[in-house]
Amino acid sequence: MATLIGNIAELVTNTTEFGIVHDAALVVEDGRIAWLGAASEAPAADDHWDLSGRTVLPGFVDSHTHLVFDGDRAAEFAARMAGERYDGGGIASTVAATRAADDDRLRGNVLRLVAEARRQGTSTLEIKSGYGLDVDTEQRLLRVAGEFTDETTFLGAHVVPPDIPRAEYVELVIGPMLAACAPLARWIDVFCEPASPHAFDGDEARTILEAGRRAGLDLRVHGNQLAPGPGVALAVELGAASVDHCTYLTDSDVDALAGSSTVATLLPGVEFSTRSPYPDARRLLDAGVTIALATDCNPGTSFTSSMPFVIALAVREMGMTPTEALAAATIGSARSLRRDDIGRIAVGARAHLTGLDAPSHEHLAYRPGTPLTHPLLLD
Ligand code: NIG
Ligand code: FE
Repeated sequence: MATLIGNIAELVTNTTEFGIVHDAALVVEDGRIAWLGAASEAPAADDHWDLSGRTVLPGFVDSHTHLVFDGDRAAEFAARMAGERYDGGGIASTVAATRAADDDRLRGNVLRLVAEARRQGTSTLEIKSGYGLDVDTEQRLLRVAGEFTDETTFLGAHVVPPDIPRAEYVELVIGPMLAACAPLARWIDVFCEPASPHAFDGDEARTILEAGRRAGLDLRVHGNQLAPGPGVALAVELGAASVDHCTYLTDSDVDALAGSSTVATLLPGVEFSTRSPYPDARRLLDAGVTIALATDCNPGTSFTSSMPFVIALAVREMGMTPTEALAAATIGSARSLRRDDIGRIAVGARAHLTGLDAPSHEHLAYRPGTPLTHPLLLD
């Protein structure tokens, strides 16, 4: 069964890099893109959808989320807006609420957030554990995450829980917790942030990431969110697929990223919600670094599931053009997950499409806060 999608004013393809076809059409067959090109040359098909002059984008790839949790931290957000600083301490309250929630409750929470994200044009989500911090709960969170995505990440090393000495917790993470969680995860991640009393320093992060790799997991890192630190250099040295946040970078961090295949994933929802300075995307782009954009959806630092919001922030606050921001939210974040079947509309890629009620992709940032996206998932 072949479906022809026609009358597309602007089709964003990202076949290899950012690319656009005007007055376009495409054909989807068996969940994959079978043909794309000028509408005037479209082949015959079994079914025909008319996009009435809208834009079609690759579905957004949200490559960094913490969707499996319970509890609410609106009061912590309000306190920050009144001048409090964020240091990761609030994570403990989400851990307590999450441990107390049963699987059905957690599943319902994820379902609501995934539905929100889909309405806003996201077609692929990475989901981390990290609000369990004991063997049973971390395993539970990854099982629930795995019901929604193949891109599951073990984040037992989110923070050191308050009831256990630091060295003992690292041993737990790389021992029984990793053994229980590795079969349920594709990735391992560590919050490497010596500036936080709750997170992990460079040596601890290295120990945890190396153990994860021995257990068959690929690497991602939370680094350089609160201050300059060892996270970015460590991620590059260990060949991590992505280092996320990158808010505070030295020149040598930028050089290291530029000479590597590690993607810099920027999460401006965090700077918005912690009232912090935004990362300098322009500096990274000018140095030749591959950038991804993601929501970091979590109840503490960025409670948004909206990739269009993140794109608008990146354009207004981080020196990116609308085109660069869209590329980072699609093909860039697909690269951060080492995937080439998503994030682009090319023959053979998955038919994860997002329709935009607008004549061009610039409207994503030009009309912030406006619900323009429609999921067009055909696989
Ligand atoms: O990506 N930085 C660490 N972890 C999350 C925040 C988690 C929380 O505050 O609940 C983040 O920002
Ligand atoms: Fe995060």
